[in-house]
Amino acid sequence: MSDDVPVIAVDGPVGAGKGAVCFRVAARLGFHLLDSGAIYRVLALASLRRGLNPGDSRPLARLAAGLDLHFERSECGDSLRVIFEGEEVGVLIRDERCGQRASTLAADASVRLAVLERQRAYRRPPGLVADGRDMGTVVFPDAPLKVFLTASVEERARRRHKQLVAKGFGVSLAHLLGEISQRDKRDQERPAAPLRPAGDAIVIDTTHHGIETVVEMVMDAIESRGLRRSRGRRQDLQSETDKCAR
Ligand code: DC
Repeated sequence: MSDDVPVIAVDGPVGAGKGAVCFRVAARLGFHLLDSGAIYRVLALASLRRGLNPGDSRPLARLAAGLDLHFERSECGDSLRVIFEGEEVGVLIRDERCGQRASTLAADASVRLAVLERQRAYRRPPGLVADGRDMGTVVFPDAPLKVFLTASVEERARRRHKQLVAKGFGVSLAHLLGEISQRDKRDQERPAAPLRPAGDAIVIDTTHHGIETVVEMVMDAIESRGLRRSRGRRQDLQSETDKCAR
């Protein structure tokens, strides 16, 4: 039954704009949202707290399969809260230590297998926008729309730096550029579900585009495939957002 539910699979490297674009596209369509990177980041946090090492494949896969994790929309629907074992960890997991550890753990095939079904369970009516590295290649290979967002590494580091500084994390741009390059390399070169565009993905280079422009490009692609919901529902969502903004 869930195979009939449309999935917009959005993959790409860190800082390409996936998070912001997926959030807006999901809100405009009234679709569910899966932030698969947050699952790997929460696993990274849990492994650090439990003193597990990246090589502890079996315990890590067990931990991944049983993670007490869920997502909630914030009151105004303008962000996704990440709740791990009853604690809001949305900010905590964004630090680069969790990002690097997540990327390392994500290279483990048993860990990936352990989170596969959890990710697929987000495919529920009326539809799903899925943000990750392997959404179009492995998790939802039958997604009717696959998008691969990318941007130059310098621009991605600059965006990530801005985000982290806004969240109160102190980190230098040069350091971040090094970490992102290292994370790209690890994500692209791992044998298990490496980061790459699906053969049938639309590739969008966001280096010179703002978020709203990219959202429009994705919405156009959705429209051309007939995946968009009725205008009435979108207007309802818009007025809910307006209410929150007041
Ligand atoms: O999207 P992100 O930066 O929050 O993801 C953190 C890491 O998790 C990323 O470097 C690689 C891994 N990841 C993955 O391997 N597969 C996914 N679908 C999502 C993230």
